[in-house]
Amino acid sequence: PGRRPREVRARDLVKSLLAELLAAAAAMPGVAIASPFRPDVLRGKRCLVTGGTSGIGFEIARQLGLHGATITVMGRREQVAASASAALRAEGIDARHSVGDVRKGDAVAAAVAAAVGPSGRLDVLVNCAAGNFLVPAEALSSNGFRTVMDIDAGGVFNMSRAAFDALKRDGWSESASARTDSALIINISATLQYGATWYQTHASAAKAAIDSVTRSLGLEWGHYGIRVAGIAPGPIRDTAGITKLAPGAEGMEDLIASTVPILRMGEKSDIALTCVWLASSAGTFVTGETVVVDGGAWLFKPPIAPREMIVQMSRGVEKQSRKVGTAVSKL
Ligand code: COA
Repeated sequence: PGRRPREVRARDLVKSLLAELLAAAAAMPGVAIASPFRPDVLRGKRCLVTGGTSGIGFEIARQLGLHGATITVMGRREQVAASASAALRAEGIDARHSVGDVRKGDAVAAAVAAAVGPSGRLDVLVNCAAGNFLVPAEALSSNGFRTVMDIDAGGVFNMSRAAFDALKRDGWSESASARTDSALIINISATLQYGATWYQTHASAAKAAIDSVTRSLGLEWGHYGIRVAGIAPGPIRDTAGITKLAPGAEGMEDLIASTVPILRMGEKSDIALTCVWLASSAGTFVTGETVVVDGGAWLFKPPIAPREMIVQMSRGVEKQSRKVGTAVSKL
C-alpha cells in the first residue's frame, strides 16, 4: 500500500533520464565552427554542387568557394538559384548557377557544361539534391516512392555519369607521375537507412541505394583517378530536413540535441568543412566510403539508469558476488 505501481516507477525513471539529457542539451551554447584550412587549399578546382542553391548544399558550395574553388550551383528554382550564385559572388567567390532537375538528361548535361568551363575539366561533383517527405508506408503511392528514388539515387547516378568525362584523369592508370590530383564525387547520404526510420521507406531505400552507388563507383572509377565518397549528416540546424521532418513544437531543437551523444545539433558548416577536407590533399586516400558526420546521433540509446546510480550499484553487485565467491579454474 502507498507504493506506486512498477510501470509508473519505470516511466518516472525514463522521464527523469530524458529530462536530464534535455537540460544538458539546452545548456550547451551554440557552436561557431571556424575553418582550420588555408583559404587557398582548393585553389584552381572547379566544383559543381547539385542542390547547392539552398540549405546544406549552399553552405557546401560556399565553403568550397571560400577555400579557393570555382563554383557552379544547380537547383530547380530560377530565382533561388540566381540569388544563391549572387550571394556567393558577394563573398568574392567565382560562382555561377545552372537551373534544372537532376532527373532530366538535358538539365544534367547543361549543369556539367556550365561547371567545366573552357577547360572541359571538373574536379569535384557534390550530389546534394534530394527530396523527402514524411508518410506512413501504407499511404505512400508507387509514384511517391519512385519520385524520391529518382531524385536521390537516380540523380546521383545521372550526375556522376554525365560528369564522368570531365572528372576522369587522363593517364591515371598508366603512369605514377599522372597520379597526382584525383577528382572527387561526394554523395550526400543519411543515417536513416542504417536501421529503420519511421515514415521514410522511400528516402531510406534511396539513401541505401546511394551508399551502394558510392561503393560501386569507388571500386570502378579509382582506375580513372576519380574518388567517390559519401557524407551522412545527422540532424543539422536550420535546414529543410529539420523543418520538414521534425516540424513544429517549440524546444524541438533542444529535444533533438538531447539525443545526440555530443549534445548539440550539427551546423551546416560541419558538413561543408567535411567536404573541404575530402576535396583537399588530406582526403586523397578516401574512396568508396561514407563518412558519418552526426555527433554520434545514429548510435543514440537512452541510458538505462543515471551514471551515479550505475557507479553505486555496480560496486554493490561486485561486493555481493565476492561474498558468494568466484569459481576457481580447474586448468
Ligand atoms: N505525402 C505522400 N505523398 C506525397 C507527398 C506527401 N507529403 N508529397 C508528394 N507525394 C507524392 C505525390 O502525391 C506524388 O504521387 P502520386 O502521383 O501517386 O499522387 C508523388 O509523391 C510525386 O509528387 P510530386 O509533387 O509530383 O513530385 P515533385 O517531383 O514535384 O516533388 C518532392 C518532389 C515530392 C520530393 C518534393 O517534396 C520536392 O521537390 N522536394 C525537394 C526538397 C526536399 O524535399 N528536400 C529534402 C528535405 S529533407
